[in-house]
Amino acid sequence: MASLKYVLVAGARPNFMKIAPIRRAFFLRNQGEVLIVHTGQHYSQNMSDDFFSDLGIPQPDINLEVGPGSHADQTARIMMAFEPVCMQHRPDWVIVVGDVNSTIACALTAKKLGIRVAHVEAGLRSRDMSMPEEVNRLCTDAISDLLFTTDILAGENLRNEGVAAEKIHFVGNTMIDTLRQQIGRACKLPLPDGLEQGQYAILTLHRPANVDSPERLAPILGAINSIAERIPVVFPVHPRTAERLQGMELHSRVRVVEPMSYLPFLGLVANGRMVLTDSGGIQEETTVLGIPCLTLRPNTERPITCEIGTNVLVGTDPNRIVAEANSILNGPARRGAIPDKWDGHAAERIVDVLLESGGAG
Ligand code: UD1
Repeated sequence: MASLKYVLVAGARPNFMKIAPIRRAFFLRNQGEVLIVHTGQHYSQNMSDDFFSDLGIPQPDINLEVGPGSHADQTARIMMAFEPVCMQHRPDWVIVVGDVNSTIACALTAKKLGIRVAHVEAGLRSRDMSMPEEVNRLCTDAISDLLFTTDILAGENLRNEGVAAEKIHFVGNTMIDTLRQQIGRACKLPLPDGLEQGQYAILTLHRPANVDSPERLAPILGAINSIAERIPVVFPVHPRTAERLQGMELHSRVRVVEPMSYLPFLGLVANGRMVLTDSGGIQEETTVLGIPCLTLRPNTERPITCEIGTNVLVGTDPNRIVAEANSILNGPARRGAIPDKWDGHAAERIVDVLLESGGAG
């Protein structure tokens, strides 16, 4: 039988660590022809290129180079650029990961060409339709032929939405595959100057709801400034947030740095005292590392990290943020447990299901 062809799509920073182990698992099985398509949604050295080199992902076979834009503009341009790629290469499967604009754009394009779609990290739900990612998750899951879930709650969400049980495969978390593979290297890197293990906090902020208006951002930063009275805070600033920080007051112990590539950031988190974030993936990484995480959002699509991990959903009320941070600093912090199948082998399970599923539509 001719080897099946798979297109593996990545577009934005949180996608790269999710595709790396899938690519590797195909390579280890020595089956299937895999083309990596980078949509170019993220394009800078430190938001994209460094991740490929840190994670040993081969250079993309095809880069659509779409760059930034409004949601409609970016999604449409990805679709227009991806359609000819699908028509030329006629893959048996398009594999999309996560919840960014590239995920839905490529899933929709493939599906309308009759190409089967597999969604990795399916079934996560924040129930917050003001998040672009929630719209992307719902739409991608609705049209996918195989839905690979990271935890049991995601599977329940899909079944409650009427997705046929045979499409859903609980495989674990490919982002955690990458973490487990890279943590040794990450922890060998020196910490940034002046930081000592366990003696600093890490902050990341990029959700439009938190950073796009000064009325929302200023109180959050006020809370961070109070926390900085007790512990230095390292703040790798996402490009979206960088523009909005102009004119905002920051405590001298809040250290603003450029976005970091994968390995140094993982090392920083693994050695920190706590993380404050509005990211999705960092909630999962901190749970696996046993590092306390305060999530600065009113909801999360990853509730398992709160139920059994180290994550606490604190919202954006500054008093609550400071109180929860103080409780961690006063100790002892909750260490939590690790969700089932976050064991480093999710990608192998995914590839096995794909290979067994064959190619016929
Ligand atoms: C996107 C994803 C979000 C993900 C985040 C991680 C969607 C809807 N959102 O949001 O889910 O958590 O990425 O970073 O897909 N920029 C650069 N260099 C880059 C990439 C972006 O400077 O390599 C700038 C853009 O020009 C733009 C801003 O950052 O001004 C926002 O980028 P964009 O991709 O539109 O959305 P994110 O906020 O990064």
